[in-house]
Amino acid sequence: MKEFILNNGIKIPAVGVGVFRVEDANIASETVKTALSVGYRHIDTAMIYGNEEAVGKAIKDSGVRRQEIFLTTKLWNDDQRSGKVQEAIDASLKRLGTDYIDLYLVHWPVKESYVSIWKKMEEVYKSGKAKAIGVSNYNTHHLDDLLKEAEIVPAVNQIECYPYLTQESVVKYCKEKGIHPQAWGPLGAGQSDVLSNPVVVEIAKKHGKSPAQVVLRWNVERGVIVIPKSVHKARLIENLSIDDFKLTGEEAKQINALNKNLRLGADPETFNF
Ligand SMILES: NC(=O)c1ccc[n+]([C@@H]2O[C@H](COP(=O)([O-])OP(=O)(O)OC[C@H]3O[C@@H](n4cnc5c(N)ncnc54)[C@H](OP(=O)(O)O)[C@@H]3O)[C@@H](O)[C@H]2O)c1
Repeated sequence: MKEFILNNGIKIPAVGVGVFRVEDANIASETVKTALSVGYRHIDTAMIYGNEEAVGKAIKDSGVRRQEIFLTTKLWNDDQRSGKVQEAIDASLKRLGTDYIDLYLVHWPVKESYVSIWKKMEEVYKSGKAKAIGVSNYNTHHLDDLLKEAEIVPAVNQIECYPYLTQESVVKYCKEKGIHPQAWGPLGAGQSDVLSNPVVVEIAKKHGKSPAQVVLRWNVERGVIVIPKSVHKARLIENLSIDDFKLTGEEAKQINALNKNLRLGADPETFNF
């Protein structure tokens, strides 16, 4: 399975499983257990998803050693506003039943604190409670501001990214600064017709792969980590099976050209939560 190396030398599987909107504890637990059983070693959750306990239980029950799993969770906005980062990560660790997080992300760039919070994230990193720290939903100007103050460069910026929102300027900026771009909503979050787009379907047919596999592969080939979510075993397997084909330069260009800056989630400039 393909891995990327983050700016502090730690490895991250290029494909992980996301568990946003999997609130039911049994389903969340089954999803993670199934994902681990079919080969995933990278799980993306967040405090606000309300399923950290279920994720932790699934990891314990899976029989897969904790050290083999790359686990991400995120600092929610209220905890960012209150500045209670140590308390927030301690609570996440407790719910997840682990003593470290592989990647701890600032979930959104809250206007009044997206720079100042980074000092506290650096303390978390130095304490060893997180093996890597990063941000999510930061645009280039947020990163510019943060980097002016930062001692530690964020390892990752997790952003909404799929063929109708290619995020070229943020991806390019991140690469220049050693920040690894990571795509949330890589399949269009179940709210897009991207998987039936004729360009994607045609490329999928040529390779004997599915549209989902094509759009995931496209992001990974441009150096972007993906964390597709599915609660179905067959789709979990499908989404992980993208190592056995390669897009041509022309195909990658055709997918890049589908961009229409179409956000399905909140806009980092205007979110109000
Ligand atoms: N940092 C942030 O602010 C942020 C925001 C949103 C999400 N995220 C993270 O990113 C992860 C992924 O994003 P997402 O869940 O919003 O969207 P996504 O992964 O792009 O799409 C998930 C949707 O696609 C369906 N699906 C999965 N595999 C499929 C396949 N092979 N073919 C067709 N449909 C398929 C799923 O349905 P089934 O489950 O029914 O298969 C679900 O409806 C989240 O779970 C979360 O961990 C982060």
